[in-house]
Amino acid sequence: MYFYKDGFLEKKDLHISPDDRGYYFGDGVYEVFRVYNGRIYEQEAHMQRLQKSASEVRIALPYSSQEIENILSKLVHENGIVEGTIYMQITRGEAPRAHPFPKDAQPVMLAYCTDVKRPTATIQSGIHAISFEDIRWLRCDLKTLNLLPNVMAKQAALDHGVQEVILHRSGTVTECSASNFMMVKDHILYTHPANNLILHGITRAVVLRLARALQIDVKEEPFTLQQLQQADEAFITGTTVEVTPVIHIDGKPIGSGEPGPITRKLQNEFERTFA
Ligand code: PDD
Repeated sequence: MYFYKDGFLEKKDLHISPDDRGYYFGDGVYEVFRVYNGRIYEQEAHMQRLQKSASEVRIALPYSSQEIENILSKLVHENGIVEGTIYMQITRGEAPRAHPFPKDAQPVMLAYCTDVKRPTATIQSGIHAISFEDIRWLRCDLKTLNLLPNVMAKQAALDHGVQEVILHRSGTVTECSASNFMMVKDHILYTHPANNLILHGITRAVVLRLARALQIDVKEEPFTLQQLQQADEAFITGTTVEVTPVIHIDGKPIGSGEPGPITRKLQNEFERTFA
């Protein structure tokens, strides 16, 4: 069962207009939630980010936060999702193609669940990555549907035979195609500050909170690809990847070339927060 526009229906009965501005312009915002044990993880933080993204691109949410939460929870329960994800997006609405905001268009919401499981194999083994230029716009803090640079970057990684890209702007590491990036050097955890150049990841915030609780020093400051080469450990964070170690970048091992001890500690703590 899906939610579309103003009601619940089956996917086969869902008709999307070519005039939806999400389709023409990527004119919309979205969120991806995780479901653990039938419950939506960090729902409040996702709702706040959705409100921020929508308000900054001047889309009026068609429902209140409470109404959206009720819709999502009904989707989880009616679809019998115990472990999975929820995808939701809200576009500016339907109107013949023209750049100005349409006057009377109603924002359109789409939401559905998946039963996609936690990526336990790569959480355990770690992944390989390449560095890749971050060519996105200057509002990467907004979770909008304009994901072509992210898609291009991810495919470049796969074409190189690795799983992920480490995005950088003139050598300064920002984040990854659909996750945030952290490195450990001399027992200090480094990650790019939460400004306009990265998505303010929910998992990023959770991991930083856990790190501080574990008395791990955290520095939210930019670092370069060169500094990253000297890192002891590296990992990505995100709703779909949780805390996944990055063990090789551009063909060279990070630290020992195995998931590091601080990464493992944070993974264990992370699991405990939703177990
Ligand atoms: N992506 N950075 C980018 C560019 C992202 O697209 C995402 C999430 C993150 C991690 O944020 P969070 O911890 O809130 O999931 C960071 C989602 C999962 C996606 O587009 O599929």
